[in-house]
This record gives sequence, structure tokens and C-alpha cells, in this order.
Amino acid sequence: MLYKASKSLLLAFVLVFTFGAMLHSSTYAQDAKTLKIFLGSVGDLKPDQAIVDRWAADKGVKVEFVYAPQSATDILAVIQQFLAAKSQDVDLIQFDTIWPGILAPNMLDLAPYVEKAGFDTTQFYPRLFQNNIVDGKVVGLPWFTDAGLLYYRTDLLKKYGYDAAPTTWDELTAMATKIQEGERTAGNSEFYGFVFQANAYEGLTCDALEWQFSNGGGSIVEADGTISVNNPATIAALERAAGWVGTIAPEGVTTYQEEDARRVFQAGNAAFMRNWPYAFLLGQGGADGKTETAIKDMFNVAPLPAGDAGYGAAALGGWQLGVSAYSPNPDLAAELVLYLVSPEVQKERALKLSNLPTIESLYTDSDIAGQIPFIAQLVPVFQNASPRPSTVTASKYNDVSVAYFTAVHSVLTGEADAATAMEDLETQLGDILGDGFKVGMPPAAMPMGTMEAMMPTAEATAAK
Ligand code: GLC
Repeated sequence: MLYKASKSLLLAFVLVFTFGAMLHSSTYAQDAKTLKIFLGSVGDLKPDQAIVDRWAADKGVKVEFVYAPQSATDILAVIQQFLAAKSQDVDLIQFDTIWPGILAPNMLDLAPYVEKAGFDTTQFYPRLFQNNIVDGKVVGLPWFTDAGLLYYRTDLLKKYGYDAAPTTWDELTAMATKIQEGERTAGNSEFYGFVFQANAYEGLTCDALEWQFSNGGGSIVEADGTISVNNPATIAALERAAGWVGTIAPEGVTTYQEEDARRVFQAGNAAFMRNWPYAFLLGQGGADGKTETAIKDMFNVAPLPAGDAGYGAAALGGWQLGVSAYSPNPDLAAELVLYLVSPEVQKERALKLSNLPTIESLYTDSDIAGQIPFIAQLVPVFQNASPRPSTVTASKYNDVSVAYFTAVHSVLTGEADAATAMEDLETQLGDILGDGFKVGMPPAAMPMGTMEAMMPTAEATAAK
């Protein structure tokens, strides 16, 4: 329901946006020295502006920023509009780790540029680089990676007698209940135990995959084509999450995206938050120390708790940079991509944005380990992060994800019960995916460490 309502808003955004971009381009259409870069708008935007401006000044060119909407679901719609129109109003595109299969036909192959520049792609974690190769085409290069994390208030844990972050969802529920009661009694009526992302959008697919996978319910569509949503473990995981809404989480959490959760946590009004690494430095006051925060030095991050399967799961996220096949400035645009994904820029972004590098050696960099300790400390969490089923579903991934988050959302808002919603979803996913896919049970328990690791493999190295 909510998703449908937001669709017309999105259309309005796209129209205004596209028109705005067209107006813009009339000024620069003849100017080959102006690049336009379509970038995400979540978090602190200043460091990237400075990084790009430095490059532009050095090259004697101009780079314009075109900012995307905040929701990944909406961002995809805007990118698809650009590409379908063969728009020349965008050169570089920042795109999500789940979209190479969807965007591939309309993106430039970066392989010749990589080769010409002598850029060593073995620096990347192989699976992050490989994820960008579609039918032999290098659709993008991995700019930063992401994994779901549990943020927790160290001061409040201590105050309520806990000496460590919760290791199971049930423990989190109990701790959040106690802390919320205590803080409300102490006078903060705005205080909540746990905030996360439960709006009907791509972010909910990530959160719900974590609940489902950590309960032993599988990962929506398995690599072998098994559709695994209608099973007792997934249903139980969704029932547990629905129980948080209006108890330890605000009723309104079903409208929350990343930035909504961060605002509540950063204002000191939540004990726990599920979010991505970018929220860490902002909670500490941001790169320049000017971001308002009530929790500086009062929180930390931990792996997300385990479900009934006995292990936790972190959704694998992350963003790539690529060049539109319709860019009027492909050479210059590819050059900017190679600069932005370089080890130097990735190090700067780790230090100024607490974004996770895609370059393996930076995880042992002493400056990063010293200033943003969790990056080096949680390497196993990042290496074992659970991918969404974008490889096996390829161009149909977005339809699958929309069906999934819509069904999960209906459970969280109480419109549907989990068992019925998952039964209906199973049928819907079968219809979307068609031949080659079958419904079934998830694979047997798969603890962390057995999933495809990011470590170099002979195959990935040979495929370079
Ligand atoms: C983060 C992740 C991205 C994911 C999005 C969902 O930006 O990096 O992969 O799709 O969150 O909201």
C-alpha cells in the first residue's frame, strides 16, 4: 500500500528531476569539459565534494553533482529513466551492488580503461570486483562496501548492568525493553529500545534478509534457484520483528529509512540501532566534528545478533561507480571513476565517512585501524556478509525485492499475518521468476565462515 502511494510521488520526482537536469544541460551541452556525476545523498556529502573538486581543479575541468533520492528503490527508478532516455545529462553513475545485472546493457565497459591506466584490479576483494562483471563486461568498479551492523549505547548498557552487546535477537529484545522502560521512567518519553529500517523499500529487504537468514530461513532465492520464503524459520523471524513494532520500536518505524533511524539514535533516543557503517562517524560528530550528536564516545558497533539458527547475518551492501553508455565524455568519466576507487581516495573516505573500502590492504592500514577501529575489528563480519539474490535473479532482482519488502512490510504493519504473507509471496516470486526456479526449503544451517569469502580465489585471480 505504502509502496504504491510512494510510486506516484516518485514519478513526480523523476519528472521534476529529469526536467531540471535537461534545463541544466542546455548550458553545458557543448562543453565537453563538464562532467556530471550522479551520487547518493545519504550521510555526509562534504568529503566527496572536496575529493572530486580537488581532482577537477587538478584536471582543469568542471564536475557537477546530481544528487539521488535517499531510497535505493527510488534511485534505481531515476537511473533507469536516465538510461532509457539515453540521456546525455549524466556521465558517472553511483549504483548499488544489486544492480549490475539490471544496468549492464546501458553502461560503458570499463575494461579497456582499466587496462590502459594499468589499474590493478586484484587490489579489490575478488567477489566485489567480480560482482560488477556481467557477460564479460566491466559495468562498474566497487567504490565502497557495506554490511549491516548493530549500534549500541555503551553508557546505557553499563547503567542497566549489561557488560556486552546482545548476541541473540531475544537478548536484544529483553535488553531493549528494560532500557526503554528505565529511560522513560527517568523522564525521556521519546526513548526507544531499537530502531531500524522498516519502510517499504530496498532497505527493508536488507533488514528482513538478516532476520530471516539468522533464523535459518534462507536468503529469499538460493543460488540454485530455490525460492525460500515460505518456511517456519522465516515466518518466526518475521513474527519476532513484527512484535518489535510499537513496543521496543516506534510505531512509525514502518516509515523509517537509514537516515530516520540515525536521527533517533544520534539524538540519544535509542538504545540499539541497525544501520550501515556510515552512521559511525556521524555519531562521533562527522569528519569535521561539526555534526550535531548527543552520543559522541557513548556508543559502539557489534555484529548483528543471532537468530534461532545460532548465527547472525549482515546483509551485504555497497556502491559501485560506472559510466553511462550515453555519456558524452566517456574518457574523462572513466578517469574520474579510476581516481575515486583508488586506494588513496578509499582510505580518505574510510577516515572521513567510515565507509568500508573495497580494497583488501586497507583493512590492515594503521591509520584506519587507529581512527575507525571497528573497520579492522569486524573483518569477518564483512567477509561473510550475506548477499541479496541479485546474481541468480539478475534483471528480475528488483521485481523480486519489491515483492519481498511489500510482503514483509504488510506483516510489520499488521495488515497480514506472516504465514499468509509468505505463502502469497512464494506464489508471486514463482510467477516473477518463471522457469528454472522452484519453491523449496532453505539449505541446512550455514554458519558464518562457510559462505563465499571475499578472500582471493584462484578463479577470481585468473578471471582478472
Ligand atoms: C545501503 C547499501 C545498499 C542497500 C541500501 C538499502 O546503501 O549499501 O546496498 O541497497 O543501503 O537501503
